[in-house]
Amino acid sequence: MRMYDIIMKKRNGGELSKEEIDFFIEQYTKDDIPDYQVSALMMAIYFQKMTEAETLALTMAMAKSGDMLDLSAIEGIKVDKHSTGGVGDKTTLALTPMVAACGIPVAKMSGRGLGHTGGTIDKLESFEGFSTGISTEQFVENVNEIGIAIMGQTADLAPADKKLYALRDVTATVDNMSLIASSIMSKKLAAGADAIVLDVKTGSGAFMKTEEDSFALAKEMVQIGNNAGRKTIAVISDMDQPLGMAVGNALEVEEAIATLRGEGPADFTKLVMTLGVQMLIAGGKACDEEEAGKMLEGVIADGSALKKLAQFVEAQGGNPAAVYDTSLLPKASIVREIKAPATGYINRITCDEIGICSLMLGGGRETKESEIDLAVGLVLQKKMGDFVKEGDALALIHANDEAKCEAATKRFLQAYTITDANIQKLPLIRGILK
Ligand code: URA
Repeated sequence: MRMYDIIMKKRNGGELSKEEIDFFIEQYTKDDIPDYQVSALMMAIYFQKMTEAETLALTMAMAKSGDMLDLSAIEGIKVDKHSTGGVGDKTTLALTPMVAACGIPVAKMSGRGLGHTGGTIDKLESFEGFSTGISTEQFVENVNEIGIAIMGQTADLAPADKKLYALRDVTATVDNMSLIASSIMSKKLAAGADAIVLDVKTGSGAFMKTEEDSFALAKEMVQIGNNAGRKTIAVISDMDQPLGMAVGNALEVEEAIATLRGEGPADFTKLVMTLGVQMLIAGGKACDEEEAGKMLEGVIADGSALKKLAQFVEAQGGNPAAVYDTSLLPKASIVREIKAPATGYINRITCDEIGICSLMLGGGRETKESEIDLAVGLVLQKKMGDFVKEGDALALIHANDEAKCEAATKRFLQAYTITDANIQKLPLIRGILK
């Protein structure tokens, strides 16, 4: 088999066989095919697209290019959850203890944040001493003992995707639906769960800005997952404004804890419940949405979801007392109101700009090596459709540096559009695909 022939076949609109896809992924992972040939193939795929069979073959080849996590030592149906990322997305922090308290074993790999969206691991490190650097054996043991563990992504999880994604990033071939779907799903399949619930975001703070693209991506990922024998469900949810009120690591942890006490913001609570319902049904713990909803409400009302979070934090070296006393989480030295410059309705919030404000305060990473400040961020006081009077607080800014506080405040004010006429609000949940 020759890479040249594979490139030409795709360039001419042909369908690559599983053998041809396996060949190029195997050889590329071993550095036996040069970047320039793979770049040419990616560009050919970009223009000629891939069939369902090709997309599945590429996903499986990338999943198998490194470690495939074996979770068979964990009893029960393992249901993973994945978000395509967004601003204020602290969903894992509240959702996983809730479903674990309902009996779904949670064995999850999470990542760190880069750019304007935060990562679950960074947020969890707001608990002093917490670590996701545990061995696979410890990971499995924790899930068997307390029902939940989260570890960092191992370096050898879908290494072919890592190489390919970096190459696509510099050759203008990222934004092809099948390539994105196979990239995300290769990591999910390698992570070993029996079922996968995807939270696909849509809007100005999301990877996919339009609903049409978000549905298309969701459809491809669901198809791949189901074709690979893992029950896969996608929830398409709004990311045209930050999720909940808090943006910033420890601030988001605090909001997730409030949600586990039943005191979370309405939009965030609704998303967590919607995803939780799908996870309980996929994991065979509930027959229908009504039963699943009642189970989730039950573990909030009786405190068992909050207790599960405390057990999980303690099992991974963190201070569980902070779950019950959030004053123990990192705190910023400056907390100040950002005031509305005019009276009217909040017509638009440029969502990714709010993420960038948190980044400017030190709450995110500009580069992989950046140190992050866990305490800083923003707590919104007004969201889209709300009425404000001039001088009312739009947000509370939490900062540890005066100059950064000032710069982020200026940028924050540019992200809010206040108008006389109100907008028509779109629903948080745009659809569910199975
Ligand atoms: N996220 C991924 O993991 N892969 C892509 O191709 C795009 C976004």
